[in-house]
Amino acid sequence: MSRLENKVAFITGGSRGMGAAIALKLAEDGADIAITYTSAASKADDTVKAIEKLGRRAIAIKADNLDPTAVENAVNEAHAKLGHIDILVNNAGVYTMDTVDELELAEFDRVMSIHVRASFVASKAAAAHMGVGGRIISIGSNLAEIVPSAGLLAYSTSKAALIGLTKALARDLGPREITANIVHPGSTDTDMNPANGDHAEGQRARMAIPKFGEAKDIAGLVAFLAGEEGRFITGSSFVIDGGANI
Ligand SMILES: NC(=O)c1ccc[n+]([C@@H]2O[C@H](COP(=O)([O-])OP(=O)(O)OC[C@H]3O[C@@H](n4cnc5c(N)ncnc54)[C@H](OP(=O)(O)O)[C@@H]3O)[C@@H](O)[C@H]2O)c1
Repeated sequence: MSRLENKVAFITGGSRGMGAAIALKLAEDGADIAITYTSAASKADDTVKAIEKLGRRAIAIKADNLDPTAVENAVNEAHAKLGHIDILVNNAGVYTMDTVDELELAEFDRVMSIHVRASFVASKAAAAHMGVGGRIISIGSNLAEIVPSAGLLAYSTSKAALIGLTKALARDLGPREITANIVHPGSTDTDMNPANGDHAEGQRARMAIPKFGEAKDIAGLVAFLAGEEGRFITGSSFVIDGGANI
């Protein structure tokens, strides 16, 4: 029996990047998968087809993290179609750079809504369906606690808020033996932060291992936390960044 046999995982932002890699890894480990996306329908479809090739069930649901009702409905749709929800990964995210004098209130609200409000909504909806052994894993950032350059106000504030959300969820759901943890990636080669992008060299200069991570590196850690091995780990933060924050 594979590690996640008979489990269902719901992953926000599973069309590309880390979300797609996490979806595939959890499916390889035996889980059925629901992913959300907002614009990349054909890439979401590619993820679904790749999971089905592994012999697992998969659905993609269009649900913008900016719309709390859409996120809540997506969780409930996944539950109705796949039978249960055991693992939630709050992954969908956007990168933004503005200093305090440039940052507009609307942009601050947008980033907070996509990262924090939607994670609360998805966690509340998913937890209502979870039994003992449920897992909530949020994707933060190594820019949550260390802010190495200007222009990160909205991004770092939102990712730091997810640490509080994670600890509070761990306290609220611990009596039901549902865990909540947060994974903080560093520079990881995706559309959001390509290893050959304009700012890549500066990022590599901060790292003990001076190369970008791959989405599958993050997926491996998420899969560990999602499995039985993770049952006593809760309220914890895990930095996976090639040693950038040391
Ligand atoms: N890459 C890095 O270096 C890095 C480092 C630290 C943390 N992170 C975090 O890791 C997570 C994944 O990032 P990534 O690098 O994989 O990014 P990515 O390649 O840009 O993929 C982003 C994913 O999020 C989805 N998404 C974006 N906005 C959304 C919204 N409003 N509603 C629903 N889905 C939305 C996208 O869907 P569509 O395809 O439909 O647009 C896509 O599936 C994010 O939370 C990011 O902040 C990334």
